[in-house]
Amino acid sequence: MRRVTITQRWLINNLGVILIVLAAVIITFSVFIKNYYYTGTRQYITNKMNTLSTLIQQYYSDNSISFSSQLHDMIQNWEDQDKLELMAINSDGQIEISSSGFELSSDIITDDYHDAIENGSSGYFAGKAPTGERIMALTVLTPDSSGQYSAIRLVTSLERTDDYILGYIVAISCICLAIVVLMFFSGMYFIKSIVIPVRQLGNTAKRYARGDFSVRITKKNDDELGELCDIINHMAEELAMSEAMKNDFISSVSHELRTPLTAIKGWSETIGSMPEDSDTVTKGMKVINAEAERLSQMVEELLDFSRMQNGKFTLNKAKMDILAELGDAVLIYTEKARKENIEIVYDEPDMLPFIIGDKNRMRQVFINIIDNAIKYSDKGGIVTIQAVQSDANHIEIAVSDTGCGISPQDLPKIKTKFFKANHTRRGSGIGLAVADEIITNHNGTLKIFSNLGEGTTVVITLPIPKEKDEKKN
Ligand SMILES: Nc1ncnc2c1ncn2[C@@H]1O[C@H](COP(=O)(O)OP(=O)(O)O)[C@@H](O)[C@H]1O
Ligand SMILES: [Mg+2]
Repeated sequence: MRRVTITQRWLINNLGVILIVLAAVIITFSVFIKNYYYTGTRQYITNKMNTLSTLIQQYYSDNSISFSSQLHDMIQNWEDQDKLELMAINSDGQIEISSSGFELSSDIITDDYHDAIENGSSGYFAGKAPTGERIMALTVLTPDSSGQYSAIRLVTSLERTDDYILGYIVAISCICLAIVVLMFFSGMYFIKSIVIPVRQLGNTAKRYARGDFSVRITKKNDDELGELCDIINHMAEELAMSEAMKNDFISSVSHELRTPLTAIKGWSETIGSMPEDSDTVTKGMKVINAEAERLSQMVEELLDFSRMQNGKFTLNKAKMDILAELGDAVLIYTEKARKENIEIVYDEPDMLPFIIGDKNRMRQVFINIIDNAIKYSDKGGIVTIQAVQSDANHIEIAVSDTGCGISPQDLPKIKTKFFKANHTRRGSGIGLAVADEIITNHNGTLKIFSNLGEGTTVVITLPIPKEKDEKKN
């Protein structure tokens, strides 16, 4: 299908309608003005004729004077010569006498005379005379129907009137044309102010589609288009950021996978070369086992993340003891923390209310958070873990560290997938994204407070189920 541009649409829809309306205005005006002038002229002639008729009637009924000579005098002394021509017609249809004094042939007599004869009183005509001139004529029969002056006729030229009418029509047409021209240019200016930026937007979007996020659109006006520019620029920034994060992610994941693989490969070669050294074999097998465990954990994390992205992330919720899972996670990291010379301070409370949740996922969250706390702390750091019932309806778990902290600019993005504020430590950047998703799915919140260089606190709040919720599950 042929593409119709905004300009064409505007020309058809808007200017087209205006043209039709203006044409209708011109036509209506022309008809009106013509009627107005013709009616006025006809009225004028009719009034004159009425006066004449009364006079002629008087002449005819007055026996003391000669009807013919009175009429003859009347025509000869006709005063309105410049506007109207008065003539008398005999019973043969010949012009007997005319106020203009010229000899006139009967050819110039128009339908008004014939109509007057036909209906026995008067006849009117407006149009082109045989001479080619446009005229208006009114004929009235006199009482002397068989005499020399059987009818009198008033004729006026319509040329001047038509000139007036034409003048008005030309004037209104010029005004309409000026309106159209004005509308055309103002419309074109307006359309350009939309079409050109839209085209620019399109070109920029094409570059984004090709993966080039370096360009930004310059906003010209603070209107809807300006808003669109802002949105697209923002979108480009987000896309560029997610593109960069994706690349970071790939490189950090590859690195993550390579490190344990290198260890596994190295140790398996060592064991292979000295299978009789049982100390080396034991040590090597331990490392291989630990690294394989780390690999499978990472693959698990990636799979979780991919499920989360596909919306296939499921939870097996049941009544659970949050302290058991937190205790497990702490235990897993105690040894690691000791090795790195980091102290874990965990004053386990006696008991907390049960919650409804997926215990494996919960443990995964705690592992992620404690792992971060240790990973982003330096030797000699302290990781403090607390679990309390903060109010009647909530349990709060807080993990604080004395590590590197997070800058205020990075803090809002920290839960975003692939985002890593700190590239000096290993990690895929999806741990917190997964943890946040899990906690959200438990109707809880995961909040992070941090001061750069001082430390970070992650606070998880989970709802304590009401009795009716417990029954439901
Ligand atoms: N306890 C913490 N102290 C300092 N920075 C942290 C802490 N926890 C998370 N971060 C920052 O948040 C980012 C995202 O965390 P996470 O999603 O767990 O990814 P990863 O641990 O793989 O780097 C980390 O790269 C790090 O910059
Ligand atoms: Mg992490």
